[in-house]
Amino acid sequence: MLKGKKIVLGITGSIAAYKAAILVRLLVKAGAEVQVVMTPAAREFIAPLTLSTLSGNAVLSEFFNERSGQWNSHVDLGLWADAMIIAPATAATIGKMVTGVADNLLVTTYLSMKAPVFVAPAMDLDMYAHPSTTRNLEQLKAYGNHIIEPAAGELASHLVGKGRMEEPENILLALEEHFSQSAALKGKKVVITAGPTYEKIDPVRFIGNYSSGKMGYALARECALCGADVTLVSGPVSLSTPHPSIHRIDVESASEMYEATRNAFDTADAAILCAAVADFTPDTRANEKIKREKGDGLTLELRPTPDIAASLGALKRPEQRLVGFALETNDAEANARGKLAKKNLDFIVLNSLQDKGAGFAVDTNKVTIIDAEKSTEYPLKSKLEVARDIVKHLSTLFIALLLLMVVPTVADAQELKANVTLNSEKIQGTNTEVFDVLKTSLDEFINNTKWTNFEFEEFERIACNFSFVVESYAEDGTFECTLMVQSLRPVYGSSYSTPVFKYQDNEIKFKYMAYDRLEFREDNLDNNLTAVIAFYAYLIIGFDFDTMGELGGSEYLNKALNIASGAQSLGSPGWQSGTSTRNRFTIIDDYMSSALIAVRQMMYQYHRQGFDIMYQQADDGRATIAKSLELLNSGYQDRPLSYFPKLFLEYKQDELVNIFSKGDAKERKKAVEILSGINPSLSSSWDKISTN
Ligand code: PMT
Repeated sequence: MLKGKKIVLGITGSIAAYKAAILVRLLVKAGAEVQVVMTPAAREFIAPLTLSTLSGNAVLSEFFNERSGQWNSHVDLGLWADAMIIAPATAATIGKMVTGVADNLLVTTYLSMKAPVFVAPAMDLDMYAHPSTTRNLEQLKAYGNHIIEPAAGELASHLVGKGRMEEPENILLALEEHFSQSAALKGKKVVITAGPTYEKIDPVRFIGNYSSGKMGYALARECALCGADVTLVSGPVSLSTPHPSIHRIDVESASEMYEATRNAFDTADAAILCAAVADFTPDTRANEKIKREKGDGLTLELRPTPDIAASLGALKRPEQRLVGFALETNDAEANARGKLAKKNLDFIVLNSLQDKGAGFAVDTNKVTIIDAEKSTEYPLKSKLEVARDIVKHLSTLFIALLLLMVVPTVADAQELKANVTLNSEKIQGTNTEVFDVLKTSLDEFINNTKWTNFEFEEFERIACNFSFVVESYAEDGTFECTLMVQSLRPVYGSSYSTPVFKYQDNEIKFKYMAYDRLEFREDNLDNNLTAVIAFYAYLIIGFDFDTMGELGGSEYLNKALNIASGAQSLGSPGWQSGTSTRNRFTIIDDYMSSALIAVRQMMYQYHRQGFDIMYQQADDGRATIAKSLELLNSGYQDRPLSYFPKLFLEYKQDELVNIFSKGDAKERKKAVEILSGINPSLSSSWDKISTN
């Protein structure tokens, strides 16, 4: 999870600073890039040299490098980092962070930080228990920082109590948890509505409400911090856009908000509808200011505004997620549940004006998250923390969705029974999550995709192995792997399984980040990984069907050929004709060429006739298999540069040795002649036929 992440580690002047060295080591070991920023006081507790040696980066603590005169830009660090940790954080630094006293590089970096900030306090128990510390930490939470609570234990003062900086291992865990949650939102497009709407009565008056936009803006910020691409459709508020990756669209009325939100939802993965949208708007709008002298009273005719939530709920596609809010004054939960169902929401966030500190304009909120199954009540928190709870809930829906996408219904009978392994031993570092997630996703993708329209019972499916070995892995998710792919078919009437296909592919390069959805589309071969898997799935099925009926696998082999031909133009390794006589493109190109029709006939004769007969009458079976080898040879003679006949003998060599060693001298001689002619490099195996 931390591989490739850029972490700013802020260290302040506390005896716990020595633990920062352990934290740096753990972060680096987990694959993170660490930039240490120290306060001047921290340098009294731990030598910068230790930290620069462990992190591999020069430690920063002054605004200027006195020797080079170089400016250490806190702004650049704020944009560079994926997270900032301040550990240990002293009471003094915490106070400065609260009030914005930017008198050192660490606090200025904190104030410029665009990434999530984790604060691990360390101080004496009385200092920690002091109301000003409590208030300051509450304030830091309200600013959206993550506080990693100190542990209780013996302190530097030899007193025992709460104030000891959390152990580096646990700080690392908090960071990993954050990144694993945010991975689910990475690259997702989220539309958020915020603030009130104004419905104009005349040029100077409107119907509006008290929404300040704080809740919606906090959600936009949290989604952006988790890597989402956010479109914030905002009613009139006096807030600034809280993150650079938020695209803000300012609107005024409910109908403008409806238009903007509907447009954005079409390409979005999720929408969170937090705006307080007016339910009614004046039927007509006066072009001039309505005069008081108009009469005793004024009657406004109102008509309903479009219900944005209900309209998106009706448009929602199965992979999209929709979250609403319910602002209630009475019968809160029942009303919220009614809205959840009526508007086709995935979950609704209930806030009640009966709860003190909840709802309009305040910095806090108290919410209950309600979905079809349960209600989860949260205590009063800052709106930034509430946003974090909501986004966490949304992330879990995306993780569940990911699994749902690759787990089809039982009705979708599948035809591969694949065993997937992924060996990442060659990759250094302790964090194996991306490999674990990839393995699980591959497993589900291969075994649960409907590759054919044939309905197979579980026991009839084709047994195959996909064994990946990760050769290299880069922080941007680029993988280089080798893949051993093999399929086996049980021989009728015996306990023996014969290899139908086996090949080691050394040219697999693709990009994958944990939780990326694996999805194969025939019209989009850009993801080399899914194209490669689909290619082998069709190849395995095609070869298998060729063994069942003469040329029986054409439909699937043509699919494999189409993938190979389509992928050629992309230039990904393994697909290029001419670059290798043995790559996957060449295998299918050869096999489907008219010159190798005899080889395809051999597949049928060898397996269906040869083996079927062999298990009743061994000699006859062997004679049929010998005849099928003549077909193989004839294809090979027609296309001598072809790789497939050689490959076939590679994976069948033990089987062939076994079969022909039992033949008479004439049969052996003939078999060795053909086999050596096609694949002389396996002569040591063919010698066994003669000598056994
Ligand atoms: O902005 P703040 O000052 O921080 O205050 C936050 C908030 C109180 C506005 C926010 O937490 C909140 O509750 N927002 C929803 C307010 C609301 O309109 O609730 P509702 O129960 O009337 O509407 C239910 C849902 O339908 C909401 O998701 C709303 O956005 C949506 N809706 C309502 C009417 C309409 N015409 N279109 C809609 O999409």
